Amino acid sequence: MSASFSIRPLRPADAPAYRDLRLEALQSSPEAFGSSYEEEAPLPLETIQARIPVSGPNAIFGAFAADTLVGMAGFAVYERVKARHKGVMWGVFVTPEWRRQRVGKALVRQVIDHASRHVIMLEAAVGLTNERARRTYHDLGFKPYGIEHKAIRIGEVFHDEELLYLDLQKPEGA
Ligand SMILES: CC(C)(COP(=O)(O)OP(=O)(O)OC[C@H]1O[C@@H](n2cnc3c(N)ncnc32)[C@H](O)[C@@H]1OP(=O)(O)O)[C@@H](O)C(=O)NCCC(=O)NCCS
Repeated sequence: MSASFSIRPLRPADAPAYRDLRLEALQSSPEAFGSSYEEEAPLPLETIQARIPVSGPNAIFGAFAADTLVGMAGFAVYERVKARHKGVMWGVFVTPEWRRQRVGKALVRQVIDHASRHVIMLEAAVGLTNERARRTYHDLGFKPYGIEHKAIRIGEVFHDEELLYLDLQKPEGA
């Protein structure tokens, strides 16, 4: 059976569902995100809502099964003039019941497609031991260019991250 879901950019009205899924992500996979549950759980809904881009190139894509948000992936462009050709993919998460059904890949593909219209370099960082996410990103063309040692600290445990890039610039004449 192939599961049915659709992907679209989140809108301000999605804020409650976005907050729920984001907090689930931070709680269940703390080593996969730079932010923490403790930092985000107390934030008022308006703050979360204000983080959903409504114009410009930045976006948070949501995967919906019927009307339920089951996955998400963010995209943001660097703000400084000399870095505006680069963007970063962030906050990739699929709720456990929906994993292994290609939702993650579809979300990452959506970010890549969207990014290719706004930047020429797309960056991402992934836990070095996070085989599922690494495989997803590598399969879709991301190349590792380094390791950030002790990138994330949770209590007394440090986690290394693999740094990735995807060159979106078409070769001349292509
Ligand atoms: C990483 C994550 C987003 C993948 O989502 P998903 O919807 O399960 O991914 P897909 O079904 O599209 O699978 C993508 C690839 O990951 C690999 N993969 C997925 N689940 C796997 C598993 N249980 N075991 C081994 N490989 C797995 C496969 O290579 C798969 O590609 P394939 O099916 O074409 O072989 C999801 O596992 C997740 O949310 N994890 C917790 C949060 C996280 O780690 N986020 C990434 C932060 S950088």
